[in-house]
Amino acid sequence: MIDLSTQYLGLSLNGPIVVSSTPLSESVDNVCRMEESGAAAIVLTSLFEEQLALESKALDEDLSRGTESFAESLDYLPDLRDYRMTQEVYLDHLRRAKAAVKIPIMGSLNGATTGGWVRFAREMEQAGADALELNTYALATDRGQTSASLETQLLTLVESICQAVKVPVAVKLSQSFTALPNLSGQLEEAGARGVVLFNRFYQPDFDIETLEVRPTLHFSTPSELLPRLHWAAILYGHLNLDIAVSGGVHSAEDVLKSIMAGASVAMMASALHIHGIDHIGRVLTDLRYWMEKREYASMGEMRGSLSRRSVPDTSPFDRGNYIKTLSSYSLRQTVAAF
Ligand SMILES: Cc1cc2nc3c(=O)[nH]c(=O)nc-3n(C[C@H](O)[C@H](O)[C@H](O)COP(=O)(O)O)c2cc1C
Repeated sequence: MIDLSTQYLGLSLNGPIVVSSTPLSESVDNVCRMEESGAAAIVLTSLFEEQLALESKALDEDLSRGTESFAESLDYLPDLRDYRMTQEVYLDHLRRAKAAVKIPIMGSLNGATTGGWVRFAREMEQAGADALELNTYALATDRGQTSASLETQLLTLVESICQAVKVPVAVKLSQSFTALPNLSGQLEEAGARGVVLFNRFYQPDFDIETLEVRPTLHFSTPSELLPRLHWAAILYGHLNLDIAVSGGVHSAEDVLKSIMAGASVAMMASALHIHGIDHIGRVLTDLRYWMEKREYASMGEMRGSLSRRSVPDTSPFDRGNYIKTLSSYSLRQTVAAF
């Protein structure tokens, strides 16, 4: 009998597939279908920091006075004024989702500064969230902003939320942090229980005819998994933090690779938008089939087996891989030329 159970953020999950934050979870029917299909937990769609601010009286006053600092950020967040998830709607949805399923439901906050998050994090906890995920998307566009100041801002935010709630907190990280092991260690000290590797950014595209810069959203492909595997494999075993891989998980093979890199869970969003929610069930069937064939009995047997600390040769994770890859390519080119 194959045991797919795993622990993530101190929660006992019945499998390794978690639905990551996506509007698909805005419907309770979908949440039920995710559980039926085999999702082990669900991260609800995010409530945006801008939404919290937008709802605050202070912001209304600022906007009516014409203060532009916040209004600017609203320009690239179209329809936030009409955004479906007001705070109350969000909390009500969280309560209904919790009541509808047995699997853990995690609330998600998306922003960059402390703002009203601490209070709202508490309210999510009171509404029944089993854990919280913080998506801290901050972009340095100002010359005066340093990497260190961005990290400090993140750590302050994480610490204040972790102190405010009892439920475990995971931090969904950007791929662009330079010294990820150091930052992860500091997140652990700030109280985080897990890291989600990684947040996926949506760069705007340029329309050269109309000279407009437009938001774009493309679903992921499995090729996006590689940097996640790389960093999960580097972090695994060095920190007291659980790792979730998010980005490019589409198949059983992707889930297996994530676990072997050291992740506790693999998260899915794009694959469910592309193939439907029932895709989770198909991936789990493939996963069991593969494990049976290879005589693996549990997730624990595989976890971290291809991590940096488990493999005899660590060079593929380090600079050696870079050099080897480039030099083998030029060699192949030379051979082809003859
Ligand atoms: C349509 C859509 C909406 C998303 N909304 C959110 C969100 O509200 N908060 C968040 O943290 N991530 C959000 N994400 C990112 C996903 O949770 C996930 O991290 C990312 O898509 C990478 O995983 P994937 O390759 O499985 O899609 C969204 C993704 C998609 C496709």
